[in-house]
Amino acid sequence: MDYGALIEKAQEAMKNAYVKYSNFRVGAALLAKSGKVYTGCNIENSSYGATICAERVAFVKAISEGEKEFEAIAVASDLKDFTYPCGICRQFMSEWGLDIKLITKSGEKIRIHTIGELLPEAFVDF
Ligand code: THU
Repeated sequence: MDYGALIEKAQEAMKNAYVKYSNFRVGAALLAKSGKVYTGCNIENSSYGATICAERVAFVKAISEGEKEFEAIAVASDLKDFTYPCGICRQFMSEWGLDIKLITKSGEKIRIHTIGELLPEAFVDF
C-alpha cells in the first residue's frame, strides 16, 4: 500500500474520534507486515488521564488480533501542520520496532520518519 493511501485511511479514522473534552480529532492507520491495515482514533474520557490516543488504539487493535510486525503508521489530525505522536505513543510504538515508519502530512507534503528517529536513545528492553 502506498503511504498516500495510508494517510487517507488515517484521515477517515478521524471521523470516529470521541473528543468531548479537547475537540481535537486524531486518526491513525497502521500497516502490518501481513498487509492488513488497522485504524484508530483518539477516545477521550471524563477522567482525562484515561484518554487513549489514536496511535495506541490502532496498535492495540492489531496486536490483539495477533499482529506482531509492522511496516508503517500514518497519523492525521485537525492540525494544518504535520501531526506528531505524543511521548507516551512514541514509547509504546518503540516496543514494536524502531524501524517502523511514521507517516505524517501537511498540505501536499508527506514526511516519513522512523520511530527510532522520533525517540532517540530509546529504552527498548532490559
Ligand atoms: N492525541 C492523539 O490521539 N495522538 C497524539 O499523538 C497526540 C494527542 C489526542 C489525545 C487527546 O484526545 C487529544 O489528542 C488532545 O491531546
